[in-house]
Amino acid sequence: MKLLLSIFVLSLFSVFSSQANEPDSAYVFSYATQKNNGKNGLHYAWSVDQEKWHSIGPEFRFLFSDFGTWGSQKRMLAPFLFQDNEDGWHAIWSLNEKTGQFAHAQTDDLFTWSPQSYPYVLETGNVLLPEVTFLSTENVYQITWLSDWYEEQKIYKTTTTDFKSYSQTVEGDETDRVGAREKVLIDGEKQFGVVSKVPWSVIDGLIRFYELTKYHEIQRSERLTDDADRYADLKPLNAKITAMPENRKAISDLLIGVFFEDINYAADGGLYAELVQNRGFEYNPADTRFRDKNWDSKKAWSFTGDEGDFFIDTLVPVHPNQKHYAVVITGEKSESLQNEGFDGIPLKAGAKYNFSVFARTLEGTKGKLEVRLVDENGNVYAEGQSAVVKPDWTKLTLTLTAKETIDKAILALTPQFKGKVALDMISLFPRKTFKERKNGLRADLAQTIADLHPRFVRFPGGCVAHGDGLHNIYRWKNTVGPLETRKPDRNIWNYHQSMGLGYFEYFQFCEDVGAEPLPVIAAGVPCQNSQTGGHGQQGGIPMCDMDQYVQDILDLIEWANGDKGTRWGKLRAESGHPEPFNLKYVGIGNEDLITDIFQERFIMIFDAIKEKHPEITVIGTVGPFSEGTDYRVGWELASKLEVPMVDEHYYQPPGWYLNNQDYYDRYDRSEPKVYLGEYATHIPGRKLNMETALCDALHLINVERNADVVSMTSYAPLLAKKGNTQWNPDLIYFDNTNIYLTPDYYVQKLFGQNSGDEYIPSMVSLSDNNKDVQKRIASSFVYDSKSGDYILKLANLLPVSVHTEVDLSKIPIDFGDAQLTVLSGEVDDEKAKPEAKTIQIDKELTYTLPAYSFSVLRMKSN
Ligand code: AHR
Repeated sequence: MKLLLSIFVLSLFSVFSSQANEPDSAYVFSYATQKNNGKNGLHYAWSVDQEKWHSIGPEFRFLFSDFGTWGSQKRMLAPFLFQDNEDGWHAIWSLNEKTGQFAHAQTDDLFTWSPQSYPYVLETGNVLLPEVTFLSTENVYQITWLSDWYEEQKIYKTTTTDFKSYSQTVEGDETDRVGAREKVLIDGEKQFGVVSKVPWSVIDGLIRFYELTKYHEIQRSERLTDDADRYADLKPLNAKITAMPENRKAISDLLIGVFFEDINYAADGGLYAELVQNRGFEYNPADTRFRDKNWDSKKAWSFTGDEGDFFIDTLVPVHPNQKHYAVVITGEKSESLQNEGFDGIPLKAGAKYNFSVFARTLEGTKGKLEVRLVDENGNVYAEGQSAVVKPDWTKLTLTLTAKETIDKAILALTPQFKGKVALDMISLFPRKTFKERKNGLRADLAQTIADLHPRFVRFPGGCVAHGDGLHNIYRWKNTVGPLETRKPDRNIWNYHQSMGLGYFEYFQFCEDVGAEPLPVIAAGVPCQNSQTGGHGQQGGIPMCDMDQYVQDILDLIEWANGDKGTRWGKLRAESGHPEPFNLKYVGIGNEDLITDIFQERFIMIFDAIKEKHPEITVIGTVGPFSEGTDYRVGWELASKLEVPMVDEHYYQPPGWYLNNQDYYDRYDRSEPKVYLGEYATHIPGRKLNMETALCDALHLINVERNADVVSMTSYAPLLAKKGNTQWNPDLIYFDNTNIYLTPDYYVQKLFGQNSGDEYIPSMVSLSDNNKDVQKRIASSFVYDSKSGDYILKLANLLPVSVHTEVDLSKIPIDFGDAQLTVLSGEVDDEKAKPEAKTIQIDKELTYTLPAYSFSVLRMKSN
């Protein structure tokens, strides 16, 4: 690493030292290659004589095409770089061989780019080799391209003044074409691109940008797993920490929260305690994008017996929102409709289970339903009989008691009569849910989340919130009210959302764990990588429907906070919560592309909430990364609109956290506050271990120091069901009966249980002056005014112990007992758990930080 850094510094020096001979201007060649199916983006080379070309990189990506869903498209074919009349630059390129769209992005320096747009210019036909020229007579930019649809090659053209709106496309001819592309030899290969003359400073800027990017890549590659070499000679160290209470500052008391997204079966089959899978027969092949041929209304259901059968009908549903139901044709008494649950139905000996079903007979015959929980051999673990099924839809309920414990029971319903019976919303809940709530949450999982002591819960996502295409945007109104009236939907992570865990349950859970509810609502645009309806970009709710969309958001605030006499407050009260939920925060948007489409809709929503509910803190969004176009433009927008807070997302490798410890120290305190809504440390293999946990801890220590600007954080994602995981790593893994906690979970818990509302700066002096050693030790000292406790957090990301003296002489501490909790282990330890003990402290506190450890010392004030 050191050698790489030295080479890098030397190469920087060589660039700077060459400045003495630099020309006033030179040529830049912009091109893309066919490599990697055209996905490698925009490259540059430079030359002073247009003969000898020097690639910058080589083949370094200065701009990439964001067109298409994750993992698809993203191609840049035949880019054309063009300078406008105001000294700005535009790149347009072809996206593929089929689409009647091209791509456009603007830049001033050739490396900082605007959001991309993909205008539709041909209904039938493709866009190949697009070019731009300025028509001075008409004062417009003309874009021409070739189109070779159905073997017929034509030239088309359109004009624009702003690269936002375009004139009607018309046919052109050869005289409209500029033909500005040239063939140039770059590193021994002929490339086809555009040559532009630029001041030398532009090329100098490109070289510096490239060098800096490479430098950051080296920084990002730093791993704790390489420490045996890096710190081969390092001996145990000494440190002194001196608290400086005179510089204390107020910090957010909402710093640690949770990010709940229905991903990895976090809701149905996870936190939501329903044990019947596909209870409403609403699974749809489209849920999985037609990838699973067994995924339909019958998923998880089967029929035993030769005489009878069951089919799915939609003729007379319980409710139009739950269209499908099963019709069972009964033969012999023992025949049954069976549900396998989510990988089986787990039962606990002696526990009670609430069964319910909507049923009606279809042929006049009457009778009861026998309800049994059996194993695969037919052994019965619980049984009972319903009341008589009637000709109208009636909800029947029953309590079952499990005789024995079993992991994989099956629910079997056997009508005790011949004929046809319609069944829907077939449900089985453990009676013991979290806080004994009806339609409640799995007690052990909910408690595991509660143990984090989250100050807020964000829901329902993530990408689930903005959805896969316009029709999949999460609509809160579909998720409240009686279960049989809720509207299930496809889950963007390619499964199904029953909406049984809906907004009411989310808000109730927040109340049950003492957390602020933080609903995140789409900003009128779906996921930037939407599979449907986006045509390579996010698209947006038509403006003619936006008033209603905005009203839905205002209605949510009334539903949460309105008196029970209000229209929406009444609905909440009818659901069992007459008192307001006291909603304070609403997130608008989820890491969206900050395009014009986004901005128009975001502003509309933001203005409406601000006007009608100035008491609500709106949280905006600044893209999926810690830098780049959406981050920059998102921040510019938030700053201009004075959005109170923005939601930042980034998943980074260890090296980023190690080398960006001042990330938030550099933030302007007069700008919007930050909600770090999604973050995690990612390593190859996407596992969690002590390396990731320590990097999380390091980052949170740095965030805590900046908790005057960072108000909230949530690690993401929270939950993952083993065997049903679309995203790794996750904080908490589980199956039907067990919970598997990660070292990163314990870091969150230690922070959640040991937050403060005042930050007390401290000075750390280490016996080693090497900055690469020093950056591996971090500490944070906070005061919690509620408990009156002082809390010292210490992270040691070194392979050696650090003997530490802590000077607490200026802190009014009640010397004596203090609580010490330490999480430590080898960097690849995936099972590390914290250990807690009581220690004695006095004014001259000494403590040895174990190698690779995170320690929390909690002390009483006097
Ligand atoms: O946390 C998982 C996903 O990561 C979220 O749904 C999305 O917002 C982000 O890209």
